[in-house]
Amino acid sequence: MRRKTIKIEMGSSLATREPVYFMARYYGSVGIISAQRYGKSVIAKILALGFNKQKRRIIIIDVRGEWRKSITKRNQYSEYPESLFNLKVIRKPRLRISDLKIVEEWIHLGFSDKSVEIITKLANKVDLHEDDIEKFGEILEEFPSTKERLSGWNEKYPDLELKSPIFPATSQAINNNWFNIKRNFYNPKNPQDTTWVSNWRKQAMNSNLLIDLEFTTNEVFAGAIVGHVLKELVPILINLQPVIIVEEADYLFGNPEYHVPYMYSTKMGIAYVLKYAKYSSFMMFITQKTDLLHPAISEVLSTFILGRLSKQDPKYDEVRGTRPVLSKGYRPMCYIDEDDSIKIRFQPMMPPCMY
Ligand SMILES: Nc1ncnc2c1ncn2[C@@H]1O[C@H](COP(=O)(O)OP(=O)(O)OP(=O)(O)O)[C@@H](O)[C@H]1O
Ligand SMILES: [Mg+2]
Repeated sequence: MRRKTIKIEMGSSLATREPVYFMARYYGSVGIISAQRYGKSVIAKILALGFNKQKRRIIIIDVRGEWRKSITKRNQYSEYPESLFNLKVIRKPRLRISDLKIVEEWIHLGFSDKSVEIITKLANKVDLHEDDIEKFGEILEEFPSTKERLSGWNEKYPDLELKSPIFPATSQAINNNWFNIKRNFYNPKNPQDTTWVSNWRKQAMNSNLLIDLEFTTNEVFAGAIVGHVLKELVPILINLQPVIIVEEADYLFGNPEYHVPYMYSTKMGIAYVLKYAKYSSFMMFITQKTDLLHPAISEVLSTFILGRLSKQDPKYDEVRGTRPVLSKGYRPMCYIDEDDSIKIRFQPMMPPCMY
């Protein structure tokens, strides 16, 4: 397996005017952090094209539908115009009920401890609900709240045997939650303009991927999809060696102080940085403030590309004293690799693709 350091030109040094290279080990992660409209996505695009040139698999998770319009188009004003090829764009992906096979995915969707085991079991029984959101909802409504109904339920659904009735209040909460979330699922009977992906591993093995969430999916479902995809890819990481670029990373791997408390995507993101990185995955977290990321992620990051930060930001000292002149396109950034004691202030180059 190829395990060399990847060197990607990304701009020129403010001090020496020499080219500045991003030095990526075969695994790791980088935080691209700055206030808005500063050039985070531009630098991420430069890096994406550089990694692609080195034959690494690129997976982009974009919440705004921004990359689709730019990464595939060469920038004629650049010195070396380039674009990302062999790219499969998956727009507005959705999940089927039976895609969510484990308890944590249903906790993520707002079901509580008491009922979630049985709901997960039910989700796994495709022959009962056929991934039809209405059918699934009807079965949830049948949950027995009395002893008498319990035996009826157990006779009808021997595979979903319950030991005791479900409290009417719990049952009510389940049905309310289902009512609120059900329209976010892909419904085979009413596919509309959304996509269902049957095999994420195959997709990722075949081409670079742009998972374009387009803001149409709500935050909770964006997390459910991304968590699901990351989980699916784990067994093939070692072959895939993906570079995973996450726009608005705090939206999917957010600090629980500011976000819904449990996100399955966050759990998977943490697992990727802590456990799976050594299987050759490289993650890019793009966000506006260091603290917006889950601390388990921001704490392990040792490589950063920083732009303009607020005084409260824990990384503020690194960028202090650099004055951007946005109107003249002068946006100095700071490249830091704490493991290699690299700290370089540089002016990012014109990106090879549209931006
Ligand atoms: N290296 C660069 N070369 C040329 N223009 C740049 C460069 N970096 C930034 N810009 C200019 O700044 C704008 C904003 O850049 P970009 O979209 O990357 O910012 P961002 O930090 O990702 O913003 P947001 O917070 O909105 O996502 C670009 O559209 C471009 O006009
Ligand atoms: Mg951006």
